[in-house]
Formats: sequence, C-alpha cells, structure tokens
Amino acid sequence: MTATNQQIVLASRPDKEAVAANFRLVSTPVPALADNQVLVRHHFLSLDPYMRGRMNAGKSYAQPQPLDQVMIGGTAGEVVESRHAGFKAGDKVVGMGGWQQYSVVDASQPGTLRKVDTAHIPLSAYLGAVGMPGVTAWYGLVKICTPKEGETIVVSAASGAVGGAVGQLAKVRGCRAVGIAGGPDKCRYVVDELGFDACIDYKAHRDPKALYAALKEATPDGVDGYFENVGGLMLDTVLARMNAFGRVALCGMISGYDGQPIPLTHPQLILQSRLKLEGFIVSEHMGVWPEALKELGTLVATGKLKYRETVAQGIESAPEAFLGLLKGQNFGKQLVKLV
Ligand SMILES: NC(=O)c1ccc[n+]([C@@H]2O[C@H](COP(=O)([O-])OP(=O)(O)OC[C@H]3O[C@@H](n4cnc5c(N)ncnc54)[C@H](OP(=O)(O)O)[C@@H]3O)[C@@H](O)[C@H]2O)c1
Repeated sequence: MTATNQQIVLASRPDKEAVAANFRLVSTPVPALADNQVLVRHHFLSLDPYMRGRMNAGKSYAQPQPLDQVMIGGTAGEVVESRHAGFKAGDKVVGMGGWQQYSVVDASQPGTLRKVDTAHIPLSAYLGAVGMPGVTAWYGLVKICTPKEGETIVVSAASGAVGGAVGQLAKVRGCRAVGIAGGPDKCRYVVDELGFDACIDYKAHRDPKALYAALKEATPDGVDGYFENVGGLMLDTVLARMNAFGRVALCGMISGYDGQPIPLTHPQLILQSRLKLEGFIVSEHMGVWPEALKELGTLVATGKLKYRETVAQGIESAPEAFLGLLKGQNFGKQLVKLV
C-alpha cells in the first residue's frame, strides 16, 4: 500500500484561546499491515468540544494530547485491508482513528474498532446521535436528571449534538423540554424540527435578569432537571429556577474552555432548593452504552430522533471547523468529511 495519509497533529498548546497555528498538517505514507492489524479509510471525523481540554497540559480527567502526534478523535469509515479474521474489506466501522485520513488499528485489542450496520442508520450518525454524543445525552438525562412524566427538563447548547438529543429523549419520556441556544435560527430549529416545547435565545437575553425572565416564561412550573453544557450565566440562571429536589447533570462547561472564569454566583441555591448536581464523563459509564445505543438507534432508524450535521470538507479544514465549534458556528453535530 503506497497511499499517503494526511494528518493533523497538535503543533503547540494554546495560550488561552485555541488558534489555527496550534495545529499542523503533515503527510506520512500508509504503513504495511502486521498480523491482526486493520487499515481503515476514514469517511468522517468527529469534532467534539472535549478536544479543547486535551490541548492543554493541565490536570484533567484525561491525559493531555501529546505534542506532534495525531489529534485524538472519533472516526467512522470503511475497512480497506485486513489481517484480522474478524474484519474484512468493505466493513463499516467506528473507532478512535484521530484527525487523519487512514488509521492502522490493532483489532485484537477489545473495543478499538466496532462494526456498524448502515442499512437503516447513516454512517455519520454513529459519531453523533447513535454515538458518543447520543449516549452522553442519554446518560445525563436518564441517570442524573431522572425525568418523570410531566416534569420540566432544560438543556443548554440545545441545538447541538448532545443537547438536541437530550430534549427529544425528554419528550419521549413525557416531559416538557426547554432548550437554550444561540440565535433565532437555532431556537426555531429546536422547537420546529426537534419538537422542544420552547427555546430561549440567550444571545437576545444577555443580562441575568432578562435571561431569568425568559426562562420563567418558558418554564411556568419551574425546572426539575437541568442538563448543563455551557456553564457560567446559564448555570447561574437555571439554578435560580430549579424546583426543590431538582437534578442537574453537569455535562459540559464550554463557555469556560478557553480559560474564561465562569463563577457560580449563588451556590446557596443548591442548599435552599436541596439540589443534586452531578458531573459525569460518558466514557466512564461503558455499562450503559448498549442500552442507550439500542434506544437511540431505534429512535433514529424510525425517524423519531432527529439531528442535524455541519460537515466541513477535507482533513485540512478540521482546525478551522473545530475552532468554529468552540464559538458556536456549528449547527448540530460537527463533522469533517474525508472521502
Ligand atoms: N461529559 C461528557 O462525557 C461529555 C461528552 C460529550 C460532550 N460533552 C459536552 O457537552 C457539550 C455539548 O457538546 P456537543 O458535542 O453536543 O457540542 P455542540 O453542542 O454540537 O457544539 C457546541 C455548542 O456549544 C455552544 N457554545 C460554544 N461556545 C459557547 C460559549 N462560549 N457560550 C455558550 N455556548 C457556547 C454553541 O451553541 P450555541 O450557538 O447555541 O451557543 C455550540 O454550537 C459540551 O460542553 C461538551 O464538552 C460532555
């Protein structure tokens, strides 16, 4: 095999805001396969907010992305050559192939490569609604927000890969689903396409009082479960609207990923409303993935769970698309198409 593999490596660590110069495009030859190895051609690369944390050297729940190595990332693609009995050319697979066109995978390592069925579910959805973001939505909602019929569930970054699924899964469970998103187009989509009951455009309500007033109108019975993707002003505002014994799933704090301070201004609300706040990392709950993927796969295959994708073209577009994701320029799941 003499194909060339274009890759994006982490060239330097960000000083506050991540910039394009933190990444570098390199070309390497695709190596010959050893026993048990599988060569995968990536059709789609998933861009996800967690990658921003990996770019830093500081302490976190995961090791930092090493410099000068291919950026970490989920991929969906096709086996082009195999020296492992469990895989053959043409198999559609998902894995953690990284920001590159091809990956060589040691398929004897459990969990490194998963075959997927694209008869009823498009390949790209395995990186979104029927993949890690979907399971994230499912875990935070079902296991932490524990929604009951008639309750009100609020989710921030509501038009995104995770947020969009949270509201729809809440509706399936008979809840009132309220989103918070940036801009009228995203809010219209969240209500008209995804079927949320209401959506608040936080960009039209920039100060705490205005945001609280909009939230109050959208949640006449208060908030029982909050799925947090953003942090800062949003967390502050929703906490003030939580009902007694409400549950808050702390999934993401994207408004602070470039190092901005996102203070919690009224922590006493946690006590006064007897709230449960719980952070989680979806990869630490592999036990629920089969159950979650079963529900998500069925809902997507039957058209009951909708999603939207923003697709950048070509590996060289990955850095700008990723930086755009951190600024809300994506609309739905951010992917890079590589074939
Ligand atoms: N805990 C876990 O295991 C886990 C797993 C997956 C994802 N997550 C987290 O879940 C959240 C959503 O991830 P996703 O993949 O679904 O991404 P996404 O929602 O598809 O895209 C990110 C969205 O965040 C919003 N955003 C970006 N910067 C913002 C800012 N400064 N202030 C407010 N909103 C901002 C933007 O939406 P608007 O235009 O609406 O602002 C943007 O479109 C992220 O916080 C991510 O880190 C956590």
